[in-house]
Amino acid sequence: MLSTPAAPVDLEQVWSAHNYHPLPVTLVAGEGAWVTALDGTRYLDLLSAYSALNFGHRHPRLLEAAHAQLDRLTLTSRAFHNDQLGPFCAELAQLVGMDGVLVMNTGAEAVETAIKAVRRWAYDVRGVRPDEATIVTAAGNFHGRTTTIVGFSTDPDARRGFGPFTPGFVSVPFGDLEAVGGAIDDTTAAVLVEPIQGEAGVIIPPAGYLGGLRRLCDERGVLLVLDEIQSGLGRTGWTLACDREGVRPDVLLLGKALGGGIVPISAVVARGDVLEVFTPGSHGSTFGGNPLACAIAREVVAMLQTGELQCRAARLGCVLADGLADLSPALVAQVRTAGLWAGIDLAPGLPPARVVCETLLARRVLAKDAHGSTLRLAPPLVIDEDDLRWAVDQVRDVLVELCP
Ligand SMILES: Cc1ncc(COP(=O)(O)O)c(C=O)c1O
Repeated sequence: MLSTPAAPVDLEQVWSAHNYHPLPVTLVAGEGAWVTALDGTRYLDLLSAYSALNFGHRHPRLLEAAHAQLDRLTLTSRAFHNDQLGPFCAELAQLVGMDGVLVMNTGAEAVETAIKAVRRWAYDVRGVRPDEATIVTAAGNFHGRTTTIVGFSTDPDARRGFGPFTPGFVSVPFGDLEAVGGAIDDTTAAVLVEPIQGEAGVIIPPAGYLGGLRRLCDERGVLLVLDEIQSGLGRTGWTLACDREGVRPDVLLLGKALGGGIVPISAVVARGDVLEVFTPGSHGSTFGGNPLACAIAREVVAMLQTGELQCRAARLGCVLADGLADLSPALVAQVRTAGLWAGIDLAPGLPPARVVCETLLARRVLAKDAHGSTLRLAPPLVIDEDDLRWAVDQVRDVLVELCP
């Protein structure tokens, strides 16, 4: 007797750890802003893999770069040089106007790398006493999932059961400059924040916050680390979210979209004296700086060099903001947008944002909830204007449908 092959989702249910709660849709193909499910239904992707797909699914330029490199050389380890790492570091550093780059793979690894860099800098350059360095962080942050990083998260779900945690982090409210000033002391190595808190629901700090942080860090002789893993590379209508305030950090963290939606690659882009604290053997990664990832990321950098995608994100961001601005206060408590990025706090009385996402799914729109009552949208920057307008109509219709 022939047995029916198990559905992929059933296999996942039985064999995969349940560390996610995906929407009930199984994707098999994607192109641009659209994806196709197992049953052939097409969906508009308004999540972009948390901004890792800023350039959409399978962008032809990125595929071409990937194919060309796949046919030549994919992995060398850093025991040997490869011909892609150096050019990538130079091109990325020049794109963002900084001194140099340390390449890793995931966002969390970039954050971990920055923590090591600023701690060693604090001891070697600032003269902090051994093993006493601290880093000022913001409440509501999301910087990844390693034990050190969840140790300074303020989200109980991210932390429960994973202690004991690494000491040396001081948490202050996000957006509160006075609190940062009060937290910096002789032990401080750095202030580490997201310029816009993505996972928290696209929380935008008060105007002048980043400039204020820059001034405080300069006055007190500590480093400013900006985690732009989600906010960077075009999402906000600028190359970097900190460009909105004309601020340069000492250490900039990039990831997600840097891999063009094809491979994981992350980068710590920093001032020369910060990167110099690393010596051979003090840090690294088997896959970090591999030629396949670097070749794809070089194409990402080249695509950002013209400014065209950033302009597109800014222009379509206005379309998104205008569309959402029309939503009645009976439906939404607050809407925050930055370029093609939106956090929509649902009005009290509406069902949880997860239910909104499930209802949007039935209308062929993929979106994601954040913290119960916030809906977040981050369409690929290549989305068609008509598709974006259609998506905003779907959001409005779903909220009206679910409004009690
Ligand atoms: C701001 C920020 N930093 C770091 C990370 C962690 O990146 P990864 O999931 O690649 O480890 C994320 C992921 O969402 C993020 O949004």
